Amino acid sequence: MSKNNSKVISRRGFLQGSAMAIGATTVGGLMPTSFAIGGTSKVRVGILLPYSGTYAMLGNSITDAFKLRVGIAGGMIAGREVEYIPIDSEMSVPKAPQNTKKLVDKEKVDFLVGPVHSGIAAVMAKLVGPREGPIMIVPNAGSNAVTGPLCADNIFRTSFSNWQPAFPGGKVMADDGHKTAITISWKYGAGIQMMAAGKSSFEQNGGKVIKDIQVPFPDVEFQANLSEIAAAKPDAVFAFFSGGGAVKFVKDYAAAGLKDKIPLYGPGFLTEGVSKAQGAAAEGIKTTLHYSGDLDNPANHAFRKAYNEAYGKMPNVFSVQGYDAAELIIKALTQVGGDTGATGDLIKAMSGAEFPDSPRGPWRMSAAHNPIQDIYLREVHDGKQKLLGVAAKDLEDPAEGCNMA
Ligand code: BEZ
Repeated sequence: MSKNNSKVISRRGFLQGSAMAIGATTVGGLMPTSFAIGGTSKVRVGILLPYSGTYAMLGNSITDAFKLRVGIAGGMIAGREVEYIPIDSEMSVPKAPQNTKKLVDKEKVDFLVGPVHSGIAAVMAKLVGPREGPIMIVPNAGSNAVTGPLCADNIFRTSFSNWQPAFPGGKVMADDGHKTAITISWKYGAGIQMMAAGKSSFEQNGGKVIKDIQVPFPDVEFQANLSEIAAAKPDAVFAFFSGGGAVKFVKDYAAAGLKDKIPLYGPGFLTEGVSKAQGAAAEGIKTTLHYSGDLDNPANHAFRKAYNEAYGKMPNVFSVQGYDAAELIIKALTQVGGDTGATGDLIKAMSGAEFPDSPRGPWRMSAAHNPIQDIYLREVHDGKQKLLGVAAKDLEDPAEGCNMA
């Protein structure tokens, strides 16, 4: 979490102004007296996100934006104060069961927000769904299984499935005239699923993936892999890394002399939130993602202004996902008058949720509880994401294996 979270709350007046600009729901007139009197009954939000290691920036961006949205609602959710119970996931899959159980069984949270890492998401989903635990909102992890075979009535995602931002990217590479590619990613669910999605659309459009390189997570020693790519001479490279690892990979790629010879593509995580740190090495990299900082809609302008005022930096896709996670809880809990015990009605409200004013553009929840959303094509220019167009309109994950009858 950023150190200056308190700034968000102390700027309530400013943020309420921003809320009006963003078109967000304020809850002043809807305060349910049974929960609000004395302020004793707080909404308990358990958070399992990385605050250390290569994904720390992602966890902090999600948390900051979640709190920004709650701050805009006056620091309350549906008239009730909020208590945050955060745990640093350390991106550890072995520690995920104990961390999840701590939040669910010991802390008895009303909502479980997390994680970033696909492997942890699968562990959490098995423990809390269907309705074994509280309502879980995934603000990043793209594990296809979470809204596929592991889908459950009490699990919702405000981010993406791994298939979603990667599938359109393969076609982009083919449309750019490339015939052969190498895929490279960390060797775990997210990387494996994104590379498979990119490969399938690249090959459907006439390309051929000649090699799939998998690097142990979260290693950042890429020299041997880069030598292999240089020797194989593919037309293009399609990569998944994120956070600190993405900074290192993109810089190493350029330092190895590959940047101007073999263009680099990938799901937008490759440059998202890190393009400034990547510097010249990131210039010209094309990626596909469900957000671009320069999206020209009023909600995005207001969101970026409010986030920058609160934290002194610009938001990224992870912030948008955290902001929409809070928006989902606020919308649903407001609809049930703040009653966190009304699980069935809460689930119903979340299942039909629509987000006409998200900074990413309008999106809605699919039957499998995953966003149906536009995927944008972006290119890094002067350290920023430049929007080139829409790579896939209203893209819905196939949600294979999801039976939520
Ligand atoms: C994942 O593990 O699902 C993931 C992590 C970082 C960025 C995108 C996806």
